[in-house]
Amino acid sequence: MCGIVGYIGKNNAIPVVIQGLQRLEYRGYDSCGIAMMDSEKMILEKVTGKVEELQGLLARQKTNSSVAIGHTRWATHGPPTFSNAHPHTSQDGKVALVHNGIIENYKVLRDGLINDGYEFSSETDTEVIAALVSQAYHGNLEHAVREALSHVVGAYGLAVIHTDEPEKIVCTRKGAPLIMAVGEDEFFVASDVAAILSYSKDVIYLDNEEIGILTPDGVTTYSGSDEPIDKKIHKITFNLEEIEKGGYEHFMLKEIFSQPQTIYDAMRGRLLPETGDAFLGGIDHMIGSILHADQRYFTACGTSWHAALIGEMMFEQFARIPCEVEYASEFRYREPLVDAKSIVFAISQSGETADTLAAIQEAKTREATVLGICNVVGSSIARETEAGVYIHAGPEIGVASTKAFTSQVTVLSLLTLKLARLMGMSKTDGLEISQAMQKLPENVEWVLKQADQIAEIAKLYADAANFLYLGRGVNFPVALEGALKLKEISYIHAEGYPAAEMKHGPIALIDKSMPIVAIAPQDKTYDKIISNIEEVKARHGRVIALATEGDTRIKDIADHVLYVPPALSFTAPILNVIPLQLLSYYVAVERGCDVDQPRNLAKSVTVE
Ligand code: AGP
Repeated sequence: MCGIVGYIGKNNAIPVVIQGLQRLEYRGYDSCGIAMMDSEKMILEKVTGKVEELQGLLARQKTNSSVAIGHTRWATHGPPTFSNAHPHTSQDGKVALVHNGIIENYKVLRDGLINDGYEFSSETDTEVIAALVSQAYHGNLEHAVREALSHVVGAYGLAVIHTDEPEKIVCTRKGAPLIMAVGEDEFFVASDVAAILSYSKDVIYLDNEEIGILTPDGVTTYSGSDEPIDKKIHKITFNLEEIEKGGYEHFMLKEIFSQPQTIYDAMRGRLLPETGDAFLGGIDHMIGSILHADQRYFTACGTSWHAALIGEMMFEQFARIPCEVEYASEFRYREPLVDAKSIVFAISQSGETADTLAAIQEAKTREATVLGICNVVGSSIARETEAGVYIHAGPEIGVASTKAFTSQVTVLSLLTLKLARLMGMSKTDGLEISQAMQKLPENVEWVLKQADQIAEIAKLYADAANFLYLGRGVNFPVALEGALKLKEISYIHAEGYPAAEMKHGPIALIDKSMPIVAIAPQDKTYDKIISNIEEVKARHGRVIALATEGDTRIKDIADHVLYVPPALSFTAPILNVIPLQLLSYYVAVERGCDVDQPRNLAKSVTVE
């Protein structure tokens, strides 16, 4: 949730770390700080607020250093104050470290250290590690870090420096992401590739409990059992433009508008429109196991969980194979019926979500086969799963997930098509579906053209206190997703409901101040949804309807109508979610909210 960047090398570390922190700000942004070595002296600067302020502070000081570690925080232990901001130092000021994750036994450790006379200056769990490293230090930082962490229970990504070894950064991880990168006479550590992409594309992924050591001469890595290991250098394939706004006002808007391309990328080489079939290289060898498994689960959080719900409906409707969806956060606590004959799909944009990783561990403990549907290449989930499919959406920076959702649904559609054909779907039906999928990028373009109209509608409803989203079948998860998007970035309370459920409770909320977004495509439930809209109008609710292109009847009932091209239930969720993404975006802009960095949220939730 927080961001870590560290630099050692021939250049001034400060601008590198500051730029890295700015690129990581989407991960956590309530306070930030930097620790750097000036010969053998440690300099520490922190601010509450954004990296820009830290940058200004450092610019005024004109400091120069070749070794620095920085952090942008998403508060877990203690509010976002100066003293709780990272880096944290040991009492003697010799150790400084930055940390992502949560130390679960920090209270016991802290109480023990206080009993020994140690004085803490923050409320954080992280400061405990600084104290432990300091106590364990006898001239070798990596040994001290290893010893300190042997007392720690929890998750961490860490970068540590010590005044006695001023030309060294030690880093390690367990359950939180951390990479090292190699440049020309300069070396980096970061919690996310985005931080260092302008300097290096040669990246080393650290595995759990491995320790990396960065010096001006290079990087070395040790295994969890302290053996030196040779780590593979991976080439990052995405470009800097992909993590920049490219002329858009916000990353979220850029990502919404990139969907014709990202959906195409998710299908490329996988959709077979000539044969009405699909091919997913990463899990092709597992298709038989998926078909013959005793149980199939999708597990995920948030938006990825909404994609999973659509996957479940498609599996059952088209491939006629049962499947369950479980919140990853609940999975391990509800004794799931998972065993060696089960397949568990973990769906995640970031590939670092702690709850999803915990669900994967639970499934593995129960000997299930775990497969990933993931965006970030080389992420923890990609590495923890037996096989998987990348969704190829490219870096998603806006905290509110948009393009990753449509790419996840695209991949789930491809998988459904593959399974459905094997389960007896006719070639004619396969051809119809695959041709509809092939047209998706073009149809998404068509929907995006209504952006200006949606922006106008957003102006009328930006003051609403509540929103209700209604949809049926595959459009019920779309309603949930529309409501989540609005909540996340505009702070308006919103709920998604299966349309017919409205009369079982939520109808009590409807009055003239309640906007209702009704997803009303011309499918088999069209007449029922029209009746729901009538019920809303009878109670003076205001309706924004999402209808099929050419539907004029709905214009007489709804206050506003947005159109999507006619769609199969295979492609409908993708087309229908686009106007909802735009609506939440424009409402948030109208309310003056920080769209890309909404309050209290972080891009990837790496704590349970
Ligand atoms: C989506 O807009 C949210 N920011 C959030 O719900 C997110 O989808 C969830 O935390 C899961 O993240 P993941 O896909 O990276 O695992």
